[in-house]
Amino acid sequence: MTTAVPAPADFAALSAPHLSPILGRYFNRSWSHGEGHELIDTAGRRYLDFACGIATTSLGHRHPRVSKAIHEQVDKFLHLCNALGYMEPVGRLAQLIAEEMPPALDTVFFANSGAEAIEASLKLARRVTGRPGLIAFTNGFHGRTFGAVSVTTSNINYRTGYEPLLPSVYISRFPNAYRDWNNDDAAATEGAMSELRRLLREVIPPSQVAGILIESVQGEGGYYPAPPAFLRQLRALCDEHGILYVADEVQAGFARTGRMWGFEHAGVVPDVVALAKAIANGLPLSAIVTRRELQERWGTGAHGSTFGGNPVCCAAGVAVIETIREEGLVANAADRGAELMAALKALQATDDRIGDVRGPGLMIGVEFIRDRATREPDGAIVDALLARCADDGLILLSAGSHHQVVRWIPPISVTTAEIQRAVGIFGNALASIPRGGATAGP
Ligand SMILES: Cc1ncc(COP(=O)(O)O)c(C=O)c1O
Repeated sequence: MTTAVPAPADFAALSAPHLSPILGRYFNRSWSHGEGHELIDTAGRRYLDFACGIATTSLGHRHPRVSKAIHEQVDKFLHLCNALGYMEPVGRLAQLIAEEMPPALDTVFFANSGAEAIEASLKLARRVTGRPGLIAFTNGFHGRTFGAVSVTTSNINYRTGYEPLLPSVYISRFPNAYRDWNNDDAAATEGAMSELRRLLREVIPPSQVAGILIESVQGEGGYYPAPPAFLRQLRALCDEHGILYVADEVQAGFARTGRMWGFEHAGVVPDVVALAKAIANGLPLSAIVTRRELQERWGTGAHGSTFGGNPVCCAAGVAVIETIREEGLVANAADRGAELMAALKALQATDDRIGDVRGPGLMIGVEFIRDRATREPDGAIVDALLARCADDGLILLSAGSHHQVVRWIPPISVTTAEIQRAVGIFGNALASIPRGGATAGP
């Protein structure tokens, strides 16, 4: 007698009839659960998870400290709404975030998603300064809501059909050293600053600008770091004109870049910092952080949220910061990041399809090009690579408007052995793809 082995659950078949097709998917796999730095599919296959739910589960899956904090809070209450009073995990997380920020940035407002944190930042900037203008940068990504998408230009599809967007938004040139200034940070800084000054001279006077919004490392746009000198000059320009410097740290924050916050690499102190993604290791939570005086001027009742600062999410957030501190994960991200960078640069030296390897800490982009002279982006090879790596047990994601960049966002607790394993899989996958022969993957 034979016992029938049940087929692995196919959640794609379950989902297809009723889930919206609006969401693009990297993979059609059916996931069962996560364990530490690995994902397990419904057939029991294990994958190294170097995607972290798009830079969100940075401590890996089911981190015991995070899970314990969540369970304990679930047994107290799930939700009250912060409008009803005060709750321990919410106050404690605000305190911990303030401790991690430069001293002046001591006041936290909680929301639910990165886009909501951006909305709050833009609303605060306008209301507090009494000015309409908002400046963002080419190829930036800040979210999908109307305000956030108004300052997003990383992909035309995100904006198409939604006009009119928020008025008085101006887009200045991002200092993309690799793409636009032949990898020369000084030239990129000078070029992008002069475009910004031209904007403020010819298009909108600085006296009409409420805030300038920037990612210290562009995320969805393709993992392009802003040169630190550019961020310092931007800070000086904001100071000169009373403009708020808004740092979008949604993807770069919480140790991802080998510093707690991406802006620390430039030594600047923003006026407003937007946080989300890794803040609660996978539960929906976001925040903006400013000087107290700014949120006092914003004014009680000027903004709010039913779910924002949910106590279960905040309890997870407390566990995240405590874990980063106790496990020394800022240093781990810097040290493992240096190892990963060296291994990927070594691969680049042997394969001229890799145009660039860049990024701080564990926020590394590997950009693929068709031709060294033109640097024409090659998304097809990246699609093929991601599919091949997944088949071989490694989950990686792409970024960039042509998905020409493989982004490396492993858990910040990743080990040297895991990095070696991942780079081995990646190198073999690349070697298996014939030159000029890549066709788009799933
Ligand atoms: C830098 C940055 N800002 C904002 C967002 C929007 O966050 P969310 O998808 O949580 O709304 C993202 C998401 O990828 C991001 O990377």
